[in-house]
Amino acid sequence: MSSLPSVAQVAQAFSQAAQHYDAVAGLQRQAADHLINLCGSYLRGQVMDIGCGTGYLTRQVLQQGAVTQVLGVDVAEGMLNWCREHINDSRCDWLQADAQALPLAANSLDLMVSSLAIQWCADEQALFSNISRVLRADGRFFATTLGPDTLAELRWAWQQVDDFQHVNEFVPQAELLKAVQPHFSEVDIQAHTICLKFDKVSEILRELKQLGASNHNLGASRGLTTRNQLRTMTAAYESLRDEQGKLPVSYQIYTISANKCAA
Ligand SMILES: C[S@@+](CC[C@H](N)C(=O)[O-])C[C@H]1O[C@@H](n2cnc3c(N)ncnc32)[C@H](O)[C@@H]1O
Repeated sequence: MSSLPSVAQVAQAFSQAAQHYDAVAGLQRQAADHLINLCGSYLRGQVMDIGCGTGYLTRQVLQQGAVTQVLGVDVAEGMLNWCREHINDSRCDWLQADAQALPLAANSLDLMVSSLAIQWCADEQALFSNISRVLRADGRFFATTLGPDTLAELRWAWQQVDDFQHVNEFVPQAELLKAVQPHFSEVDIQAHTICLKFDKVSEILRELKQLGASNHNLGASRGLTTRNQLRTMTAAYESLRDEQGKLPVSYQIYTISANKCAA
């Protein structure tokens, strides 16, 4: 059984985060920039941005002259409302939908992109079969998602407190590949790590909350975190300061490139 929160819980957390998301989403912008470079000449025709959030990647897609239409899809109404207020382009539409159950016709899109969203989908079989179904035969899918070494320092610091799952779990590369492969004829997954630096543990926790990415796993403790637990975790994290006196926060980024049919 997946330890991920339900789609409704994910939608609620990200809807609440919409107003503050852009102020703290530097890492998310880096991942989206990386993804857009990878898409290259496949940025054309009708494109879907899955889990569009506040639309940073959607805007980048819209800047490509060969793109005729973009559909930004998200489960979080708050995120879509933000996009409707801030992105005004006649080629763009917004749809509230779950990426695991896309209400779209088969063979209807040229390209599907997604940045740091699919790690919230518990049903990988439904997710990747939907993406493949909606793509045209020569369609491509490019995505970034998170690997299990993401937030390794925070996970370790909480492990010094108790055995509960305080940090979201992410699927390893081999498992991800196994989930994508049945639905595409060619798949490539690359990994790289981005390490952010912070001055205070409290800033790390605040930023995760503002991103809507605090822990909602089923393995999380049901009770509230006590001050004592927080102090113990903070002391453990403090021991990880680097030579510059900064606290590291690692994000392991997986980049997926997939062709529906052989090129
Ligand atoms: C970390 S944000 C990333 C947003 C944007 N792609 C970016 O790079 O800034 C993840 C987004 O995925 C959306 N999301 C999560 N699960 C989803 C699902 N099952 N279907 C559609 N969107 C989903 C969330 O609501 C949220 O807006």
